[in-house]
Amino acid sequence: MTPKPSEDEATIQPRRAFCASLCALMAAAALPGGAQTPASAERPPDPHPLKLTEATRAQMSPGRVLDYRKLGAFYLMADALGVFALTAVCTHRGCLVLSEGATGFGCPCHDSAYDFQGEVTEGPAQFPLKHLAVTEAEPGGLLQVDVSTTVPPDTRL
Ligand code: FES
Repeated sequence: MTPKPSEDEATIQPRRAFCASLCALMAAAALPGGAQTPASAERPPDPHPLKLTEATRAQMSPGRVLDYRKLGAFYLMADALGVFALTAVCTHRGCLVLSEGATGFGCPCHDSAYDFQGEVTEGPAQFPLKHLAVTEAEPGGLLQVDVSTTVPPDTRL
């Protein structure tokens, strides 16, 4: 027969387990980037990846940047070749980049910078911003962006 633990042992064991869990959480938060926005790979997939914007292709003049970070973490843009969309998710650790107009984008977390086409101009990010598929909801109609579909960087609508 196993001896019954004393009352002190019975209360100390759960307290130790709680402290161990708390220490593990605090250690994870103290790691570089631990308190940052999770990387895109850690986010669950969007169940509704097709995002309808309020812009038409006719309204997208070269150099225009429309901010759709709240709708689906992307920017809708245009250059001399046409309309395109860039994810706003930084390729370093997943923070949302901020538009700096015609000069490109800057990441507020670790200061990576990207040009207007999404190419890295300053690290620590090593990879360009992803280009996302853009279509018209109907011919001449509102533009929609599929945030689940990446396209080659030279793709334009
Ligand atoms: S998340 Fe680190 S530079 Fe953007």
